[in-house]
Amino acid sequence: MKLQRLCVIYFSPTGGTEKIARFVGGELSSGLGLTPEFFDFTKPEDRQTQYHFGAEDLLVMVSPVYAGRLPNKLAPEYKAKIFGQSTPAIPICVFGNRSPDEALRELVLLLEGNGFQTVGGAAFVGRHSFSDKVGAGRPDQADLAQITEFCAKAVEKLLLNQLPHLEMDRSEIGPYYTPLKDDGAPAKLLKAKPQTDGERCVHCGLCARSCPMGSIDKETVEAVGLCIKCQACVRRCPAHAKRFEDADFLSHVAMLEHNYIRRAENMIFI
Ligand SMILES: Cc1cc2nc3c(=O)[nH]c(=O)nc-3n(C[C@H](O)[C@H](O)[C@H](O)COP(=O)(O)O)c2cc1C
Ligand code: SF4
Ligand code: SF4
Repeated sequence: MKLQRLCVIYFSPTGGTEKIARFVGGELSSGLGLTPEFFDFTKPEDRQTQYHFGAEDLLVMVSPVYAGRLPNKLAPEYKAKIFGQSTPAIPICVFGNRSPDEALRELVLLLEGNGFQTVGGAAFVGRHSFSDKVGAGRPDQADLAQITEFCAKAVEKLLLNQLPHLEMDRSEIGPYYTPLKDDGAPAKLLKAKPQTDGERCVHCGLCARSCPMGSIDKETVEAVGLCIKCQACVRRCPAHAKRFEDADFLSHVAMLEHNYIRRAENMIFI
């Protein structure tokens, strides 16, 4: 069976997941001789359609890790909108140098439940959305070399028609990771939302347009509904007017900067 399409779907509020998704797409493209089609699943308007893939398509699904799992507001959308029919798939998670915990297994099980056959999977390290010091400079040259090697093996498997079965524990998925404060106590992040510095804000509206939940009021750009703490508004604001001031959130960031500066390794299954 010859593959006809190489499709890459990614959810990427702050761009780290997209960077890896595009690199993987490029590497697979040269090996398979197919032009990659990229589908951005990040903004609410991008998530309106359903995606249906056939047996001659290859899907690469790339998601960030939130609290050791797939982002809890996105996993149901992946499940409801992305379908295969014996479609080969490569699930990839991107994590911020702490740990992917259960996220990759969750993505494998989700895709397999929706009609995909997993060729291989990986969790690659990126910069942490919460801090430039955690996962700084990742993915670096060594990471990109590992991603290239992973893609070459996937191409080899696909060209030899060695479809499933990805060797992986398929038992029930464990709980979400509990974020901790710098003193080791659980951090309560549920209510944390970005604040706007009215002195700095130039009312460009970029934060509202960047929010993957469509939660920032377009008029005031201050009122925020459901917030998944993705940091898109903070990182994309050209005036540096958005920040999280919540004490538990800041203490969690301090904990990450204290304990997770060390180099985490990529996890590769192929
Ligand atoms: C709410 C939230 C929770 C996160 N939880 C984890 C985690 O449990 N483990 C980890 O290593 N990184 C975690 N991260 C970091 C992201 O997985 C990582 O920075 C990812 O590259 C972000 O993707 P993006 O740049 O495409 O937005 C978390 C980020 C956010 C926003
Ligand atoms: S992106 Fe920044 S400057 Fe632009 S409206 Fe939002 S807070 Fe204001
Ligand atoms: S308001 Fe929350 S969900 Fe929306 S972009 Fe900002 S951090 Fe992300």
